[in-house]
Amino acid sequence: MAIKSILKMGDPFLLSTAKKVKKFNTPELNTLIQDMQETMESENGAGLAAPQIGVNLQVVIFGLEYNPRYPDAERVPYTVLINPVLNPLTKEIEEDWEGCLSVPNMRGRVPRFTKILYCGFDQYGESVNRSVEGFHARVVQHECDHLQGILYPMRITDLRMFGFTEALPVNQI
Ligand code: NI
Repeated sequence: MAIKSILKMGDPFLLSTAKKVKKFNTPELNTLIQDMQETMESENGAGLAAPQIGVNLQVVIFGLEYNPRYPDAERVPYTVLINPVLNPLTKEIEEDWEGCLSVPNMRGRVPRFTKILYCGFDQYGESVNRSVEGFHARVVQHECDHLQGILYPMRITDLRMFGFTEALPVNQI
């Protein structure tokens, strides 16, 4: 187990498409997930995708109890999600502020579906199947985008709504 360094936007690896996990509950997969968990916790992240620590596999973790980075956010149960498939359950799209450990000290307003169904597996190969909305839906869409080589700034439609946390008006973010 170890805290890994997180790749930053500009690193071409973050633009690659992640491969499916073929075997579950292996020592390698469990170590990867433990490393991701420790790395996410050390950075107070709400989620982390394997490509962010340089591993080209379809593995994301997310979860939010109280988090000083998102003091007003809804709670999200800690989840390991492997080989995910997402389906929107509505056409409704909402914009809200996001950050990313690969884009440090910045925030941007990102449009996301408000309700989604997500399916996949945990590290033991048990299926995960949830309909969620709000912040939970946003986090899953953000993390799964990493598996397609998409970083949130690529989804911002109004780049005036993107900037350094320290410079953005506090009442906005
Ligand atoms: Ni991210």
